[in-house]
Amino acid sequence: MNPRIPLSAPDITEAEIEAVTQVLRTNSLSLGPKLDEFESAFAGYHQMPQAIAVSSGTAALHLAIRALNLGPGDEIILPSFTFIAVANAVCFERATPVFADIDPIDLNMHPASVEAAITPRTRALIIVHTFGVPANMDALMALARRHNLAVIEDACEAIGATYNNQLVGTFGDIATFAFYPNKQITTGEGGMILCRDNQLAQRMRALRNQGRYPGNHWLQHQELGYNYRLSEIACALGIVQLTRLESILAQRATVAARYNSLLANIPDIECPPLQLPHRTISWFVYVVQLAETLPADTRDHVLRLLQNAGIGCGRYFAPIHQQPAYQHHPSTQTAHLPITESIAARTLALPFYNSLSSTDAAEVTQALMQAIDELNQ
Ligand SMILES: Cc1ncc(COP(=O)(O)O)c(C=O)c1O
Repeated sequence: MNPRIPLSAPDITEAEIEAVTQVLRTNSLSLGPKLDEFESAFAGYHQMPQAIAVSSGTAALHLAIRALNLGPGDEIILPSFTFIAVANAVCFERATPVFADIDPIDLNMHPASVEAAITPRTRALIIVHTFGVPANMDALMALARRHNLAVIEDACEAIGATYNNQLVGTFGDIATFAFYPNKQITTGEGGMILCRDNQLAQRMRALRNQGRYPGNHWLQHQELGYNYRLSEIACALGIVQLTRLESILAQRATVAARYNSLLANIPDIECPPLQLPHRTISWFVYVVQLAETLPADTRDHVLRLLQNAGIGCGRYFAPIHQQPAYQHHPSTQTAHLPITESIAARTLALPFYNSLSSTDAAEVTQALMQAIDELNQ
């Protein structure tokens, strides 16, 4: 059953519908002018020389790892408190994911935990800007430089966020973005890669298109590649969404601030910080934490009560090392992630989207208070 107040909702206007319809009236549905236009607009927004549109954020991560020639024997440090695709992309290339613990404030990889995880086999960091909050880039980039590590920035949840007034996705060697419908901007399914290095970019363009390099004809494949292309329809949607990004981010910041004030005096609930030094947040989801003092299963009870009341909510994130798919992975056996485990057991994502009304936000808050009260009785 669909919740009355969903967890997330895309924001599609007549302009997007018009743009998509126009593409459908042409003969060019893939590898056409909208692809170039979307990539140019995305690169331009970030002031980066190269943007490569792909079929998903997962595809973007996979191509990044492959283009950096990371593989068997190479260790890549990443958070466990994130979406599973981040570790999966590492495993696709048979490299080893090494999980770092998180900072309890920004929920991103803690530089001290990253440093402790570095070994002579470490080749790269995947810095995820979780929930749209930029990671501590000064400390993490300094570590990467000191140990000569490649940096993949996973900005799938953080388009438009800044650290020291610099957009996320412009710090590392390669950055990835995602446009699933729960994201700040959507193409239905889709992703984007940013990078500065022209050779890396050319390789990723070939890899997304079955290993075809410029000058190759349709049945000429220079290396093992994939079909990770993004359709013209999706690109047309993305172009319009990108023009609306600033207003979308402003709307989301307003919704987050409204929640924070509604939830301010509720005991046992910790709201996310609205501001952090040197950073602007691109609100992806709105996630509260329940107090550590509550019984261990409280979050899951609250989740069920809210869902029964027609309110969409979720556990963001279920740590990767606790997923059945990673149960027997050697990286799980060595993972020591007390902060990740403590926080992940207490997080609750509430309905969050551009048009969430103040009435609905008040209803969610009321239902949350009631659920906690009920459990305390
Ligand atoms: C941090 C992060 N990386 C990667 C992805 C994967 O993106 P996609 O679902 O488009 O494959 C997501 C998607 O939610 C994500 O949140």
